[in-house]
Amino acid sequence: MSDQQQPIAGAAATRAASSKFVYVAAAFAALGGLLFGYDTGVISGALIFIQKAFALSTFHQELVVSVVLVGACIGALSGGRFADRFGRRSMLIFTAIVFIAGALICAAATDVTMLIVGRAIVGLGIGFASSTVPLYISEVSPASARGWQVSLFQFAITVGILAAYLVDYAFAASGNWRWMLGLAVVPGAALGLGMLALPESPRWNAQRGNVQKARSVLAKVRGTQDVDAEMREIEATLTQAHEHGRISDLWLPEVRPAMVIGIGLAIFQQVTGINTVIYYAPKIIQSAGISSASGAILATAGIGLVNVVMTVVSMWLIDRVGRRPLLLTGIAGMAVSLGVLGYAFYSPAHGHNFATVAVVTLMCYVAMFAISLGPIFWLLIAEIYPLRIRGSAEGVAAGTNWAANFLVSVTFLTLVETIGASWSFWLYAALAVGAWIFSFALVPETKGRTLEEIEAAWRAKKRVV
Ligand code: BGC
Repeated sequence: MSDQQQPIAGAAATRAASSKFVYVAAAFAALGGLLFGYDTGVISGALIFIQKAFALSTFHQELVVSVVLVGACIGALSGGRFADRFGRRSMLIFTAIVFIAGALICAAATDVTMLIVGRAIVGLGIGFASSTVPLYISEVSPASARGWQVSLFQFAITVGILAAYLVDYAFAASGNWRWMLGLAVVPGAALGLGMLALPESPRWNAQRGNVQKARSVLAKVRGTQDVDAEMREIEATLTQAHEHGRISDLWLPEVRPAMVIGIGLAIFQQVTGINTVIYYAPKIIQSAGISSASGAILATAGIGLVNVVMTVVSMWLIDRVGRRPLLLTGIAGMAVSLGVLGYAFYSPAHGHNFATVAVVTLMCYVAMFAISLGPIFWLLIAEIYPLRIRGSAEGVAAGTNWAANFLVSVTFLTLVETIGASWSFWLYAALAVGAWIFSFALVPETKGRTLEEIEAAWRAKKRVV
């Protein structure tokens, strides 16, 4: 970034105070995260009953679970591009409609084909949400609070996962899987109605040439008419941009390093094993020696709660200590926890102590993920890309995340069968070491910077430190 730009950007950053309105906007958009968490979490408890209702084969069960991840991958890749073309707000309204349609089709399914179609549609909704929600929040938030406001998305994901465990538990006695899947209509409707009342992102407006509209939205979300500095900064960024919004722009020399970071973190967020814990926690806990189903479910709910609470801790820290210290500390903690977990499964004495060590270690692992790779991946991919291609670039990173999620989820049980639990966890530990080195070497610090300062820094081929 040139010295000339520094004072303008700095002034905008300090002047950009928050109005209450921005909290409302962030909270409603974050409902997309709630649906993401709920819809990925709910199937574990519902599947037992669905399997009975339709006499599903193992193949069909796997399909019901994994078609969501495939849908999410396609949704994320296309959703980001649509958000660049049609706007973030329109895309979020459309996302809500997709979620509602998917939930209704699942709840009313009369056969397995209808259920799989419903789950694929829900997957598309999750994908759309994962590429558009962080984008929208990052573009309405002031630089000083962008970290925790975008992390509301991850917070909502963790609440959604916990809510899914609880709803599954509540309906377990009656076995009413239609309610389990259908309840997602409620947050879906809230997301749609909320977004109808909220404005389009000021940055997207500016990028489309609607400068007046951009200014008036900015004044509304900042709660002041004094938005000249921030507007000047946004307009200056657009003048300097070489991108035209084409897919080939994603590999321009000034965009490429950010693409490598987004794609790399997307892969590392998944291949360090988080969803083996989120999706298979009861199985892992049972194999560690807690044999009763209710004990395993309770321990799973405990893990879900740790995930929520530690995400809040991360949100409290993220704009204070910055992204890099949290990311590096958390990934190091994940690597250590995974190492210990592998060792716990290695020891031949599977007594009560062993089960306790395994559960506590799983909790430490989730806690470390929740302060680092969980929220920070979604935050960084909403911050580091140039405005003109932000949606498409974020979509590629989010889509890669879903593809990696799919790969890890479908290989976990086979991996454990082939090389054993210990070596599986040690493999994830080794990948966590790789994630640490990657983050240490490449991830920039974006704390307190405006999106325009971050963009200018890439153009000047500098890290934002
Ligand atoms: C990940 C999900 C994961 C969730 C767990 C998200 O950041 O993308 O795959 O299930 O965190 O909290």
